[in-house]
Amino acid sequence: MALVGSDYLIVSNNVSSIGMQEQQLSLNFTSYNDSTELLEADGALLHEAKLATALAYAPYSKFKVGAAARLSNGVILKGSNQENASFPAGICAERVLLSICASLYPKMAIVDLAISYQNEIGKSDRPITPCGICRQSLFEYQEICQHPIRLILGGKEGKIFIIEKASSLLPLGFTSADLFS
Ligand code: THU
Repeated sequence: MALVGSDYLIVSNNVSSIGMQEQQLSLNFTSYNDSTELLEADGALLHEAKLATALAYAPYSKFKVGAAARLSNGVILKGSNQENASFPAGICAERVLLSICASLYPKMAIVDLAISYQNEIGKSDRPITPCGICRQSLFEYQEICQHPIRLILGGKEGKIFIIEKASSLLPLGFTSADLFS
């Protein structure tokens, strides 16, 4: 049986007579060879994310991440990762950006969010995806604004991935509904 959930294709197979089911989730995303294949607006937002890597404070990891969001009113805001000598205190570019968006434009939907990076001690030629904590934060931001956040992911060069809903990256995620139901 195949069910199309809000974010996933869910495939269930009956594997025993007692009703136990094996379930499978699949994620769809699109892949592009480089930014020349993108819609102009997507390429422009990814460019802003690349520029934002210059604003990162990453003296420890040397891994500079930039993120740029396009809000539903057309405003573009940027964030970058900010590290600390006490390593866990650092914060990823995505959550810096979400905090900026929520503070300057409370409840305004983020329509598109581009993420790029510059790895000063390695390659920057493929997309990176948000870490687990950022996935949780993106998921909840979508819930608050009741609007999907479309992700545009690419390094300095190389392939680009577009994921239509950030929440797709957190299958079976824990949500506010779990707390209050
Ligand atoms: N980082 C981000 O800012 N976003 C990601 O999606 C992954 C990792 C940061 C955290 C840390 O400052 C550095 O990259 C290396 O992990």
